Amino acid sequence: MTRPNSHSDIAEMGGTPHRRFYTGGDIAKVQSIFDLRARTHRLMPDFVLEYLEGGSGEEGTLLREREAFAEWRFMPHTLVDESHRDVSVDILGRPAAMPLVVAPTGLNGVFMRGADTALAQGAARAGVPFTQSTMSNDPMEQVGAVNGLRHWWQLYVFGGEEIWQELVDRAHRNGCEALVLTTNSQIFGQREWDSRGRTASGFPTLSSTFNAALHPRWVASTMDRGMPEFANVVDFIPRDKRSFFQSADWIREQMPRSMSWDTVQKIRLRWKDRPFFIKGILNLDDVRRAKDSGVDGIILGSHGGRQTDWAVSALDILQQAREIVGPDYPLFMSGGVRRGTDILKARALGADVVMTGRATLYGLCAYGADGVAKAIELLRTEMMNELGQIGVRTLHDLDTSVLARTGDLPLRG
Ligand SMILES: Cc1cc2nc3c(=O)[nH]c(=O)nc-3n(C[C@H](O)[C@H](O)[C@H](O)COP(=O)(O)O)c2cc1C
Repeated sequence: MTRPNSHSDIAEMGGTPHRRFYTGGDIAKVQSIFDLRARTHRLMPDFVLEYLEGGSGEEGTLLREREAFAEWRFMPHTLVDESHRDVSVDILGRPAAMPLVVAPTGLNGVFMRGADTALAQGAARAGVPFTQSTMSNDPMEQVGAVNGLRHWWQLYVFGGEEIWQELVDRAHRNGCEALVLTTNSQIFGQREWDSRGRTASGFPTLSSTFNAALHPRWVASTMDRGMPEFANVVDFIPRDKRSFFQSADWIREQMPRSMSWDTVQKIRLRWKDRPFFIKGILNLDDVRRAKDSGVDGIILGSHGGRQTDWAVSALDILQQAREIVGPDYPLFMSGGVRRGTDILKARALGADVVMTGRATLYGLCAYGADGVAKAIELLRTEMMNELGQIGVRTLHDLDTSVLARTGDLPLRG
């Protein structure tokens, strides 16, 4: 088994010869998401990395996210005219550079000041939509003003109904293209790594603070004016709980455990006729139910292994989910995407679009907005190359006929 939080790619053969990663300042030298990750590990303090990388419990789900991709192999065609390859797609009826949407991630202000805006700039530059989290730190309006951005809003339901109503209305007014309701976080995952670095009142421990002080570049780019606030929800938070970590904990405590499909219906009505997705589905009955409830699309996923421990990954249920929803219903997935090949596998197994959390965050941590665009561009270049390798011209021509599952190998005649 490969440790999910080692630097190694899952395909690495025992570290011989030893793989090196580029961690320097010249973005042109970056070869893969794993270089961006290595630089992130160099620049960020431990408590930030624990928040970014950690999964819940024993990290069984986090491990599965990468293993699930590794279980699929390509059976490439040869002698196919590959002069014109194309990985562009339509997302919600509008052209995108590739089938990717940047996933919502909260607390981005811990990586650098202006992080949500930088993620949005990177996504816009690379030609894909960006989803802003309810737990983001930059104001929705500031992010919405990014040139050329396709701005999506991710909703967490917490506190009384008036809070989500106001957020939904604001996202509507602000021109957000789609609303993404995350439904798997009403009970916060047990993230032991993340919790260990903090005191009972939620602040970083003395050793975390000491370690952070040893990262001057992070201190300069993140802490110049202290920790940021949660710009979009701060007014709902009691005054004495508005510090960074206390706000996050307070919001998590306010998430109603009783949220149900009725809430989904109410949000559907309030959002009117713009695209509405549910995110965080991993059970096939819920896939059926979500489609029947009138949402416009489903995002399968485990929250990057941060919620239920020992869950299946989205990739594991993709084919069956596609059968349930039919060929034309928007079906997205998130979890473990680090390579262009991952995106090709997800597409072949039935996903329209993948969402990236950590891959684009590594870009952000390593080089800001440029790094986000670089991460997306790397994934796109890898897709283009591998599409040629497997003898398929466009994503519309890609299906499971070029895939074999390792458990079924060798194939029998
Ligand atoms: C640091 C971090 C913060 C996250 N915050 C949110 C969030 O605020 N809302 C949400 O719906 N999902 C959140 N997620 C889950 C991501 O949207 C996405 O599903 C997940 O990161 C996909 O897995 P990947 O990181 O392997 O790409 C977060 C993930 C990470 C890594």
